[in-house]
Amino acid sequence: MTIAQDLIARAEKRDVLFGIVGLGYVGLPLAVELANAGFQVLGFDVQEKVVDGLNAGHSHVKDVSDAQLQAVVKAGRFSATTDMLRLAEPDAVSICVPTPLSKFKDPDVSYIVAATEAVKRTLRRGQAIILESTTYPGTTREILLPALESTDLTVGQDFFLAFSPERVDPGNPKYGTRNTPKVVGGITEDCARVAVALYQPAIDALVPVSTTETAELVKLLENTFRSVNIGLVNEMAIVCDKLGVDVWEVIEAAATKPFGFMKFLPGPGLGGHCIPIDPHYLAWKMRGLNYKTRFIDLAGEVNTEMPLFWVRKVAEALNGQGKAVRGAGVLVLGVAYKRDIDDIRESPALDIIRLLEGQGARVSYADPHVPKFSENGHEFRSVALDSATVAAADCVMIVTDHSSLDYPMIRRHAKLVVDTRNALPKED
Ligand SMILES: NC(=O)c1ccc[n+]([C@@H]2O[C@H](COP(=O)([O-])OP(=O)(O)OC[C@H]3O[C@@H](n4cnc5c(N)ncnc54)[C@H](O)[C@@H]3O)[C@@H](O)[C@H]2O)c1
Repeated sequence: MTIAQDLIARAEKRDVLFGIVGLGYVGLPLAVELANAGFQVLGFDVQEKVVDGLNAGHSHVKDVSDAQLQAVVKAGRFSATTDMLRLAEPDAVSICVPTPLSKFKDPDVSYIVAATEAVKRTLRRGQAIILESTTYPGTTREILLPALESTDLTVGQDFFLAFSPERVDPGNPKYGTRNTPKVVGGITEDCARVAVALYQPAIDALVPVSTTETAELVKLLENTFRSVNIGLVNEMAIVCDKLGVDVWEVIEAAATKPFGFMKFLPGPGLGGHCIPIDPHYLAWKMRGLNYKTRFIDLAGEVNTEMPLFWVRKVAEALNGQGKAVRGAGVLVLGVAYKRDIDDIRESPALDIIRLLEGQGARVSYADPHVPKFSENGHEFRSVALDSATVAAADCVMIVTDHSSLDYPMIRRHAKLVVDTRNALPKED
């Protein structure tokens, strides 16, 4: 029996120890899903606080409840550690570390490099390494493969290397790690076969593709598709504003076409760890090949300008009431980057607050999911959202349409509302 056949057979029997490197929004749900499928899972993170919390049964990720975590901890199927030397223990290692952008919007793969170095230090015959972090095409082959092969072990024979992009959509009540099909590309055919077999017990549908570059590009296509289409409807929002037409009415009516149209909604700009960032990974890679990715760049431009567009709408609305932005009290509703989540990474609300404050507005915010946050050394705390706070503001700006906000109350008491999400109920 080859090493690959042995791993595949053991995966079928759940007789495999999984290691998950990076226990955040992506790594933790994956770890719990693998543990639920019957695997032993050992989580690795560099943050002691995260590891201690998880071992004590406290989840810091909204999509994993304390109860779900405690069930796998108590069953002895999940534990976490900061001791990277224990990476020698797992048979399969999924790497779920962050891939942010540098100050100049170039890919920052330093977390992938650090995780790869840690894996390399203890790499042994019979291990499968699967990169999950979103990254540019070529990363697995150009960064992980040479590092791991410098150990004298051979890929596809002694160890296996694959890329399988995580597709988690935080806060999505319908699709989670298990029921979202998972794409897998291996460095060799056996690498792909092993990775598919390892994930099979925990994921309903696996989608093997021919190379790691293909799998890397699949993820970037998905997120670029969203960025470009959101850019298009955001431009349509600007067009409609100039024409005096209701953009949401246009979109709703267009969406009645049963074929050839897919509904995307305009808003205050892009947020989160994926859509505003991932297309830049592809644009950067293509710049190195002397190709300018025009759709990506243009969508990025339009989407980044949306906070400014909406701040101008606030200024116009205040002006309509004979008020200046300077000195006006603006209450921002929702700072998370999307509905019903607590994540403020890259949230357009942060740009909006900065722009409003830059023009002299007195900004406060309310967000039931984000009680406080710090930005540029300044700590913000959510105010209580009641009729008095709403009535006291010169302008209420709906930035994130959390479902728990009392929109009828807001409409009743606000002097002025600028609604970037079409969240307010229509007037009777
Ligand atoms: N958040 C999402 O919705 C989402 C969806 C799909 C894909 N992704 C991709 O998944 C990857 C991870 O994103 P995330 O949102 O889970 O990030 P995250 O910041 O929530 O979690 C990453 C974790 O990795 C840990 N870490 C950093 N360096 C480490 C190292 N060298 N060794 C061990 N642990 C380390 C951090 O402490 C952190 O806990 C990114 O590439 C992202 O683009 C994210």
